[in-house]
Amino acid sequence: MKYNGYAYIHTIGCQMNIYDSEKLVSILSSYGFKKTDDMNKADIVVCNTCSIRHKAEEKAFSFLGRFAKIKKKKPHLIIVMAGCVAQQEGKKAFKRIPHLDIVLGTQAFSRFGQHIDAIKSGKQKVVDTKDCLMIYEAMPDASCFNENKMSRFVTIMQGCDNFCTYCVVPYVRGRERSRKPESIVEEITLLAGSGVKEVTLLGQNVNSYGKKESQISFPELLIKINEINGIQRIRFATSHPKDLSINLIYAIRDLDKVCNHLHLPVQSGSNKILKKMNRGYTREKYIDKIFALKKECPDIALSTDIIVGFPSETDKDFNDTMNLLREIEFDSIFAFAYSDRSSAPAARFSDQIDEKEKRERLNNLLQLQEHYTQKKNKELIGETLEVLVEGKSIKRRDGFVKTRKNMEQMTGRSESNKIVHFPYEHVNIRDIIKIRIENAYPHSLWGHPVGA
Ligand code: 5AD
Ligand code: SF4
Repeated sequence: MKYNGYAYIHTIGCQMNIYDSEKLVSILSSYGFKKTDDMNKADIVVCNTCSIRHKAEEKAFSFLGRFAKIKKKKPHLIIVMAGCVAQQEGKKAFKRIPHLDIVLGTQAFSRFGQHIDAIKSGKQKVVDTKDCLMIYEAMPDASCFNENKMSRFVTIMQGCDNFCTYCVVPYVRGRERSRKPESIVEEITLLAGSGVKEVTLLGQNVNSYGKKESQISFPELLIKINEINGIQRIRFATSHPKDLSINLIYAIRDLDKVCNHLHLPVQSGSNKILKKMNRGYTREKYIDKIFALKKECPDIALSTDIIVGFPSETDKDFNDTMNLLREIEFDSIFAFAYSDRSSAPAARFSDQIDEKEKRERLNNLLQLQEHYTQKKNKELIGETLEVLVEGKSIKRRDGFVKTRKNMEQMTGRSESNKIVHFPYEHVNIRDIIKIRIENAYPHSLWGHPVGA
């Protein structure tokens, strides 16, 4: 059925959720709903949720909880919990949020429209957490192009078979499955046609793309995407260290559009903890892969994910992680305090670490990394970087912050994903220009366009 109304989407969590929310907008628009940024105007509110850590899950409940009063005043309002928390909680979600109408699991998107129809025709509540071996495929449409973005995410695979002991992903996103290469190429070609310059390919473990389906490998997919006219940059996340192949290293080295940056989550520098996490590699193997990568791509920027305070992590284990940071000198890290997830096996491990200790370790780790982030940024002074222009920025005492209002500064990103500011120039947003770096700040760089 076609409706006349407004849809408000609130997204919590990772890049994959941002992509999924775009698909939800497309579905809603095909049912006649227009996207709005004004919650008060909405006839349907969707919260696309994340359950990776306790805090993200709480955000979802707190966002949706607010609608109890609103729904009383506006009974026709449809309230939807979508994504990972929905998949995990199923009908239990109604206990905490009784005013919810639809609980839409991670693999139920193709049935979303049907569920809206059911609620509209008087059904009280719908829960759909059924597994699905297919990936919901829908090509970008007008609802997506309206936003006129230069950079887009494209999910190439879903789910995960790795079962790291701390992680909910295999339980909430199901088994690993890859999209067909033709469909990915078609989607990116459409995006390129609408002016998109940069795509980030998403999957929990992109290195194993296509393996289960016996279709082309991830490096082969990169070759195909590299040929798409209009696309200038290709990024991807996430790579699993155990599956990082030499062919992927060659693809990063040889394909001109593939960015000189790799995000390779290590999680811990302690072999004891890596084993308990079921990561499938040792500290030494991880370091070997980094050496193999640096041998072929000496200037590559590296980032990683780290969890501190995993059950039974001792001071020595934590020091192993600190020393790994010193040894590798990552450009940036994402660090998290271990968060107990009841569906993941580590929740039942003994020797849980107390929250205060986790916080202290997290602060120490982040402080150490600040030093390397600055060091890496300073090493770029005097270099000329290619920058994809994003817009205007404003100068502040602590560095620079992006905003559209200020006319003096402009901002963009380097291939290594660093934020680069430069004086206002008559350059077009979406252009790739050369900037000579003159100054480095904790989280950004500053320079002048070459030849200006
Ligand atoms: N607690 C803390 N961090 C976690 N991550 C995944 N599960 C947990 C958890 N239970 C982190 C990992 C992963 C990133 C996306 O989130 O570092 O790489
Ligand atoms: Fe979670 Fe491990 Fe799969 Fe990453 S590889 S999604 S951490 S189970």
